[in-house]
Amino acid sequence: MRIRMRARGLRASRMAAAVVTMAAALVLLPAAYSQGDAAQSATAAQSAGAAAERPAPAPDKGLTAGTEQGFAIFQNTCLSCHGNPNVKNAPDPAVLRAYSPERIYAALTSGPMKAVGAKLTDNQRRLVAQAVAGRLLGTSPQGDYEYMADHCAANPPMAPPSSAPSWNGWGNNIDNTRFQSAAAARLTAADLPRLKLKWAFGLPNSTSAYSQPVVVAGRVFIGTDTGYVYSMNARTGCVYWSFLAQSGVRNALRIEDISVQGRRRDVALFGDLKANVYALDARTGKQLWTTHVEKQYTDRVTAPPAYYQGKLFVPISSWEEFSAASLDYPCCTSVGEIVALDAHDGHILWNTYVISPRPQPIRKNTRGVQQYAPAGGSVWNTPAVDPKLHAIYFGTGDATTYPAADTSDSVMALDMRTGHMLWHYQITSGDAFLGGCYGDAATDNCPPTEGPDWDVPDSPILVTLPSGQRLIVVGTKPGDVLAFDPDENGKLVWRTNVTGKLAQRLPFGPAAFRQTGIQWGGAVYGGNVYYGLKVGGGLAAIRIADGQRLWQVPVQDGYGEKRVGYDSPATTIPGVVLLGGSDGSIIAASTRDGQILWSYDSDRAFDTVNHVAAHGGAMGSQGITVVGGMLFAGSGYSVGQSGVAHSGNVVLAFAPN
Ligand code: HEC
Repeated sequence: MRIRMRARGLRASRMAAAVVTMAAALVLLPAAYSQGDAAQSATAAQSAGAAAERPAPAPDKGLTAGTEQGFAIFQNTCLSCHGNPNVKNAPDPAVLRAYSPERIYAALTSGPMKAVGAKLTDNQRRLVAQAVAGRLLGTSPQGDYEYMADHCAANPPMAPPSSAPSWNGWGNNIDNTRFQSAAAARLTAADLPRLKLKWAFGLPNSTSAYSQPVVVAGRVFIGTDTGYVYSMNARTGCVYWSFLAQSGVRNALRIEDISVQGRRRDVALFGDLKANVYALDARTGKQLWTTHVEKQYTDRVTAPPAYYQGKLFVPISSWEEFSAASLDYPCCTSVGEIVALDAHDGHILWNTYVISPRPQPIRKNTRGVQQYAPAGGSVWNTPAVDPKLHAIYFGTGDATTYPAADTSDSVMALDMRTGHMLWHYQITSGDAFLGGCYGDAATDNCPPTEGPDWDVPDSPILVTLPSGQRLIVVGTKPGDVLAFDPDENGKLVWRTNVTGKLAQRLPFGPAAFRQTGIQWGGAVYGGNVYYGLKVGGGLAAIRIADGQRLWQVPVQDGYGEKRVGYDSPATTIPGVVLLGGSDGSIIAASTRDGQILWSYDSDRAFDTVNHVAAHGGAMGSQGITVVGGMLFAGSGYSVGQSGVAHSGNVVLAFAPN
């Protein structure tokens, strides 16, 4: 839906004063709304602490990927006019979202918004321009592969995806197990000590290598926060093409051999941070179709869509909750959603909101700004697909309005043919949460009781046990892992916690920040599920049949400073679980006992095949992939998370010597 700002009757002088006050107030905003790209606000304090111990290097060209701060500036400084029907000519927020960051920055520095821009620091102008535009400033056209040194000598026709080992999309299969078989991995535990860096690829101007590299038909595909998508040769890192999307692409791409525009071909499918979904010719990078899937201007596609038999199931999340506490903000109208598309032409088949009914006006806040409810329930994860029951399963985020809807913080099942809800199970009730509502910062927009921010950012995993029993396994931010029976309408089968003690609900704040738990999800091997844990929790293994906790180990391998968070999604090959740490470590641990078999410190500068200056950093939303005897990782994740939020812009490929 389209946001409608109500008349606020602000006269120009008052408005100007409000702008000044708001600009000043920005200084007081927490340094990191680390709730960030999937809700990690619980770690802002951690980030701040760790930053003092270990400062992150200045990003290239003075750019900062502080998108949440940028959104906050937008909500606090710009929405008093943009979207306000009393202010003539001010383009609607949805219109501004379509502008380039260069145009917005120019408006604030030398254009019609100069007076507003003068009240912001230059960094704040950059942050707001980047956040609204959804990609980094100054990134076009330098990111174009034309400017790169290592073009592939030839670009032959691509083989069908099934013809060679691959890691396709987020979970590597429709079940989200994130497991790579021995045949496809062609890399064993015994090979790990011989792993050597084969090539590094620099992502020009990027400050967050947050997209998981996927490898299909011998080619790597990766998105960036600059909006560029690249395809490289898996063996050599030579580049085939680049494509500039309308905003950042943090999706893992999905490559499918389907018919588009009357011709069968390998098609690359993904979404961007302005809620656009794309199909490209995977060989050439040429756009085949694009669809804007949700008009609400705060909405975006952070988790990769699921794909099944010609259909895409696109999860919709939002940045609304990060800073809707501003009294100028008509909180809240963004609702999590799944949009189903026909992958052949991009037309929308159905869409289902996580929360119903649609947000309605409820009251005016102390500044007279209309408030709406119910809202929230962002979908931060990729659904698991269940062909047997024609269902998809996904997790939902917290509510942004009070009282919290009963479908927030839930696992939800939809009929994939119609979008009708089959069942849902609420894991945490009463979790109405807005960034910026902590302590004295709380405003009249804030929920009367701030919830714990316990979204379900994990992708549910659909597991079939040797007994034939099927279970949906999902981890949660406070570390509870739950298993549901899809064949019994989502009946809860077991619930356990990675630490051995079920999560205690702590009020949002410092104590809650120290809780370990699960962020981006687990991987399955041999009847068990393996998770990396946040804020110093190490790794854990749980038996899927009965939920028994097999082991939880801290990681002490030289990179395992106490604070290191393994928020990243786990990946398994037989006998080995692979994870990235917030300190930039890549670790391979034994599935038997969690013992570290191999590790690599990616937090350093790299010489790159494409001659782009590159540095590694934290590992977060990006998982490690193993394909055809090689291991691939994106390094650098600048969104706040446990430990450090350390930016970086490099893609790494390893193979045994
Ligand atoms: C006091 C009201 C007001 C505030 C506050 C305000 N704007 Fe504007 N903005 C306007 C109006 C009015 C226009 C149309 C100006 C025109 O057409 O000459 C505009 C135009 C723009 C344009 C279009 C310029 C172009 O290239 O055509 C951009 C971009 C923009 N604003 C961004 C922002 C951003 C970002 C902020 C917050 C940092 C902001 N504005 C705050 C009133 C405002």
